[in-house]
Amino acid sequence: MIEIDKISVAYEKGTDVLQGVSLSLSAGEMVAVLGANGAGKSTLLRALSGLIPVRQGRIRFNGEDITRLPPHKRVAHGLVHVPEMRQMLVGLSVEENLILGAYVKRRDSAYIARKLETVYDMFPILKDRRAQLAGSLSGGQQQMVAIGRALMGEPKVLMCDEPSLGLAPKIVTEIFETLGKLRDGGVPVLLVEQNARQALRISDRAIVLKRGRSVLQGKASEMQSNQDVRAAYLGITEPAQEG
Ligand SMILES: Nc1ncnc2c1ncn2[C@@H]1O[C@H](COP(=O)(O)OP(=O)(O)OP(=O)(O)O)[C@@H](O)[C@H]1O
Ligand SMILES: [Mg+2]
Repeated sequence: MIEIDKISVAYEKGTDVLQGVSLSLSAGEMVAVLGANGAGKSTLLRALSGLIPVRQGRIRFNGEDITRLPPHKRVAHGLVHVPEMRQMLVGLSVEENLILGAYVKRRDSAYIARKLETVYDMFPILKDRRAQLAGSLSGGQQQMVAIGRALMGEPKVLMCDEPSLGLAPKIVTEIFETLGKLRDGGVPVLLVEQNARQALRISDRAIVLKRGRSVLQGKASEMQSNQDVRAAYLGITEPAQEG
């Protein structure tokens, strides 16, 4: 579905923050993007959404070259990015924030009503809080709004940047389960995470970035069980646990 072919990306001239990174994402897959602070994980998502220009290499989406396509056209193609720190309009209600996510697709009320129902089925708490200002929600609820808003536009690919950041473990599990359901429902997910252990548990494959380079790619289950990989790339030193 997505083919990233040796892309290099720089914020400032001369310093490539991503260097020749390749990655593919197929239908029905969840791929974790792992790596330390500053490794280039968010930059990879920004390059995919067109928020930062790609200096070298190609990005294809369903066979079409989208390397130079502006961000709004990528969204219209169904490539939707849930950014780091959730970024919502805190002065609008939960429902108003959700509805904004529909505008990339359609504005008619029947479509919006149908999509709201889907999001509220997924996150019932948001239905109870629909009239409340988004800024008054807990972090976990705000993350649900951010994902819900993305779903309002019927994404074909979902890119989530650290959805677990600052959330209680129980909420993280809930958010990850939701992402798993989306993947199972046919929407491939690219999941940026610092929490390697949990991300590997729900992902099919993973890529590890280190200073802008891809240093490891493989099946999540294999990375999870390989002690050397865990210690060298993921900062997990204790033995693998069952379950
Ligand atoms: N807007 C920017 N202008 C210049 N440099 C930037 C900008 N954003 C990020 N960088 C640099 O690019 C590199 C990669 O940053 P990026 O945000 O992609 O890392 P990350 O893996 O997402 O890290 P984190 O886990 O902290 O979110 C870092 O060295 C960072 O300082
Ligand atoms: Mg980041």
